[in-house]
Amino acid sequence: MSDNFPARMKESSNKHKSKIVLALDINYTDRDSVIIFAKNTINLLKGYICAVKINFHLLLPLDFYSEVKAVIDLAHSYDLQAIADVKLNDIGNTNEIALSHLWSGGFDAATVSSFVGFNGLRDAISNAHEKNNGIISLVYMSHKSAADTYGLQIVDPKSGKTMQMYELFLNWVEELHADGIIVGATVPEVIKQCSDRVKNKTLIFSPGVGRQGGDARNALANGTDYIIIGRSILESNEPDKEAAKMRELTWEIT
Ligand code: XMP
Repeated sequence: MSDNFPARMKESSNKHKSKIVLALDINYTDRDSVIIFAKNTINLLKGYICAVKINFHLLLPLDFYSEVKAVIDLAHSYDLQAIADVKLNDIGNTNEIALSHLWSGGFDAATVSSFVGFNGLRDAISNAHEKNNGIISLVYMSHKSAADTYGLQIVDPKSGKTMQMYELFLNWVEELHADGIIVGATVPEVIKQCSDRVKNKTLIFSPGVGRQGGDARNALANGTDYIIIGRSILESNEPDKEAAKMRELTWEIT
């Protein structure tokens, strides 16, 4: 496997012929069911996805260095990438310690909130690159109230230009060479704008399809590289059939 996260994503995507990042959002509260369901889900869906995204659904109930790591190791055994969706947004020291644990546990990339600021994002990216891992920064989230913050009109303190918050975040991504960005499938016009600026330099990941109302094919047509899907696969009657259907619907769109 390649020594940088974007290249590993592409390898995994090509190997599995899939643009689907599975949000492994297990809806159980007892620890035993969480770990069993997580592993069974990866075993079931491994052929239809290119990465798993792990969020607090697993990070909070499970033991990190044994159970979460075992889930990541299982994903890696199928050449799937593992992304920590922690939306890091703290002081430098805390972010650094958090990232070092995430890398030691085997994660390939982590999400960082752009509200951490330019220097915070810069430091997270250098930290990740030292370990050949990646940082995915949030440029525009998928949920309805994302516009309350990401869509705010602001004045960039450096240039004095008026813009929306996400446009400033996009400027930072370009300057700092983040490995990936998150832009909700619910805002295809923002995906297009981001794609026009960073396509082939920074990967675009879009959550928010299905349950949140976004359309996967439309997101891809506007420039998204990878679709993040959780509940509409996991909570369907036949998750493997749903994943296979989504893979087919999305694979041929470039
Ligand atoms: P569903 O079930 O809606 O799950 O398909 C989506 C997954 O993605 C996460 N999510 C986001 N993560 N920026 C992110 O970094 C976003 O804008 C965003 N929207 C959804 C969500 O937590 C779930 O794991």
